[in-house]
Amino acid sequence: MMQKESILSDGLEQEFIQRFGHPPEFVVSAPGRVNLIGEHTDYNDGYVFPVAIDKYLHIAASPRTDRQVHLHALDMDEKAIFSLDTPDESKTPAWCKYLKGVAYLLQEMVLRENGYTLKGMSAIITGNVPIGAGLSSSAALEVASAIAFLGACGLEATNTGINTKSNITLIDLPPTKLATLCQRAENEFVGVNCGIMDPTISLLGKTDHALFLDCRSLEYKQVPLNLTDIRLVICNTNVKRELATSEYNKRRAECERGVEIMQQWMPSISSLRDVTLEDYKKYEAELPQITQKRCRYVIEENTRVQSAVAALTAKDINTFGRLMNASHAGLRDAYEVSCDELNVLTDIAQSIDGVIGARMTGAGFGGCTVNLVYKNSVKIFRNRVMKEYTQKTGIEPDIYVCSVGDGARINWNSQS
Ligand code: GLA
Repeated sequence: MMQKESILSDGLEQEFIQRFGHPPEFVVSAPGRVNLIGEHTDYNDGYVFPVAIDKYLHIAASPRTDRQVHLHALDMDEKAIFSLDTPDESKTPAWCKYLKGVAYLLQEMVLRENGYTLKGMSAIITGNVPIGAGLSSSAALEVASAIAFLGACGLEATNTGINTKSNITLIDLPPTKLATLCQRAENEFVGVNCGIMDPTISLLGKTDHALFLDCRSLEYKQVPLNLTDIRLVICNTNVKRELATSEYNKRRAECERGVEIMQQWMPSISSLRDVTLEDYKKYEAELPQITQKRCRYVIEENTRVQSAVAALTAKDINTFGRLMNASHAGLRDAYEVSCDELNVLTDIAQSIDGVIGARMTGAGFGGCTVNLVYKNSVKIFRNRVMKEYTQKTGIEPDIYVCSVGDGARINWNSQS
């Protein structure tokens, strides 16, 4: 995918030279993601099944000799400068929190023990992952900035290099550890209590494969999709996700409450992952009503992910599609994180011949749906969704027919 020529010929190198007077030493590209099934299960120690999409956030950068970070966010037309020594004191735009958090944790969790110290860098940031649409533009920024800060130190983490140069040092930093670092940056520095799914898939995506991830052990399997005559179509409601953070944190708390209550009868459980539907049914009536709905959804969704992976492996795509539809129904009725616009999109999609499955994806309350559509039906899908969604909501959707790509990579510029 991200061959050096294609990135640099995109004008990124020229942009960089214009701003900093020399070419970048490297370009990091990190993809956004869409989750096929397994929603709101990651922070319950459960299973997820996301793919990396061919939409990327790029950071082109060079190390500096001082400890300053000079950033140009091209798509927002914003500049920022902060010092690695006093990151909190500088007044910078909100998106800098991601970079500051990642830089701090890299030093504390990785570099110190390996005898390295962070270096400043000059960088430009650009990309085509829609921002705030539930396709993980934040995780892409965290992952890309972690790899870029390592790059500025002449370091390359496990499995992230494309064309390693001879003077680069490989550092033993597995993708799951790097993902944990990025998740912590978002939890502790940005204040979103998100799970591990997004940075993990941004690092571990593989062309034409989905990632079956156990969010407790972080064991994973890259499962072939074999989608020859099927397209992955993402529809963006273009509704801002106003409630996403507060309601997200509430759902987490409701799940934790359910576990706490059920521990009186099942002391060995530590998350909803440990509860089977059979056991759950014995105690469900003892839980407050809202907690009942939330817990049942998560327990059922965990089973759905496992069944979906089995169906895909058995090349039974229709069962996979039915499980996607059932996942949406659970998110809408029991977990209550969908919204009218997401439901309109899924209703339209599910009524079209040639649609295998359709559901909301990501945290919810706006953002996107994910659809598996037979190649021959994509045109009619596009026309109907455009027309009917706009008629019903007064909003024009965006529709992306995506490929499934590789995870984040650093591409060293041999000319620099
Ligand atoms: C957001 C979070 C993820 C995950 C999903 C819901 O994308 O960042 O960790 O919880 O919501 O599945």
